[in-house]
Amino acid sequence: MRLDKFLGEQGIGTRKQIKEYVKNGRCIVNGVVATKSDIHIDENNDEIAFDGIVISYQKYHYYMLNKPADVVSATYDGKNTTVIDLLRDENVKDLSPVGRLDIDTEGLLLLTDDGALIHRLLAPKKHVDKVYEVHIKKDLTDAQIKHLEEGVDIGDKKDNGEIYYTRPAKVEVVGDKVIHLTIHEGRFHQVKRMLEAVDNEVLFLKRLSMGPIKLDENLEKGEYRPLTEEEMKSLGI
Ligand code: URA
Repeated sequence: MRLDKFLGEQGIGTRKQIKEYVKNGRCIVNGVVATKSDIHIDENNDEIAFDGIVISYQKYHYYMLNKPADVVSATYDGKNTTVIDLLRDENVKDLSPVGRLDIDTEGLLLLTDDGALIHRLLAPKKHVDKVYEVHIKKDLTDAQIKHLEEGVDIGDKKDNGEIYYTRPAKVEVVGDKVIHLTIHEGRFHQVKRMLEAVDNEVLFLKRLSMGPIKLDENLEKGEYRPLTEEEMKSLGI
């Protein structure tokens, strides 16, 4: 692999910036200062250091973002800021959000360039748990909670025309008109439509976790960080 591609993939900078950095002697390959950025290196065996820090090769990249409202979960949008815009400094090409949160939904969003992981986390058969903090307009009755947990009609139909009820969910009342709702699916506007199905309304929605990954409470809205080794292990990476 070319040195500039390697450094670019590890988020050091653009190809143009890297050319300059290398010219300035900031990159050392196997103990020798590199003078050109287009030399070929062996990403698995050579020791590459940048500004004195050894960089190990990471084929794929994994981040968690605390998504703010007013930002869309897309890679491109002509009008609104996208979640990819928020991670621009990373210089990682081909990052995609793992699923979508509505523009007004906040909280945990994973982003990666590992297509296999995206598939694994979103595949309906995998039933990855997603926990949402939901602020609602009215208190829920016990019957409504039971209904939400057993499955509600949110207007979806199966191919054969039958009602496509939501799969079993879990409701935990955590405060005054605040619940934690755990679902295992990711249908369009699912949480909002589930609450509508029991004659209620979502006033605020925030994702707290996805599978084993919990939103890092130290991340302010709009902030992100790479997943830790431990988090990656929990995802089977
Ligand atoms: N359910 C919704 O209604 N919106 C989201 O953003 C996520 C789940």
